[in-house]
Amino acid sequence: MTMRKPAIAGNWKMYKTLAETRAFAEAFPADAKNSTDPEVILCPPFTVLNALAEAFKGTAVQVGGQDTFWQDEGAYTGEVSPVMLKDAGASHVIIGHSERRQFFGETDGSVNRKVQAALQWQLVPIICVGEKLEEREAGLTDNVVIVQVQRALLNVAPELVSGVLFAYEPVWAIGTGKTCASDEANRVCGLIRETIAKMATPEAAAAVRVLYGGSVKPETIAEQMAQPEIDGALVGGASLDPSSFAKIVGYRTAAAH
Ligand code: PGA
Repeated sequence: MTMRKPAIAGNWKMYKTLAETRAFAEAFPADAKNSTDPEVILCPPFTVLNALAEAFKGTAVQVGGQDTFWQDEGAYTGEVSPVMLKDAGASHVIIGHSERRQFFGETDGSVNRKVQAALQWQLVPIICVGEKLEEREAGLTDNVVIVQVQRALLNVAPELVSGVLFAYEPVWAIGTGKTCASDEANRVCGLIRETIAKMATPEAAAAVRVLYGGSVKPETIAEQMAQPEIDGALVGGASLDPSSFAKIVGYRTAAAH
């Protein structure tokens, strides 16, 4: 029996205005709003982060950023700091999403600095790792994922590692409708845990939660959550609709189908 509490995180990417954000909060069902098992985290664009935090005040829904810079403040036009995220109501922050790596020059080195900055400000990092299609086809999946995990956690104190969330997101499964087979996703999530055990401590590795992400839907979540190494999901497209996200949060009930 696992002692890790499952977490379902939504990644809204570059979607939703203020009005759409408030409409989502209004429509999100009460049982999903008050869910503590699984934990529920929503990561909206910066412009609506505070509005979402205000709209979910008094509920169990937690709010996260989709990225952060590593400095607290300064002349860094266009950037947002961990201090600002906390101030706006965030408890979590996605770091190293594949879209940041692909389109915005995110590297394993910048991921590591951001992880350290988030932890310094008690923001829970949701660290994304995963292989591209050509890497999978070349048999490089395990190597790519292990190196991303090792570099993300470089010089992170072992006692801080247990509080981190990882998300295994095979890049070819994001937004494509192609989910990774559950047993294969389970295997790679287990590999992430083994890598953490070697870098930090076995206790930290046992406590770290590893989410799966990539075309998670109400129809796929129950099978994914049944895998022993998968502790939750990072949901993109299906988190934009309040009823589909609520079905994913309520994956234990038959209503998911
Ligand atoms: P998707 O996105 O659920 O739309 O595939 C997942 C993600 O990018 O985190």
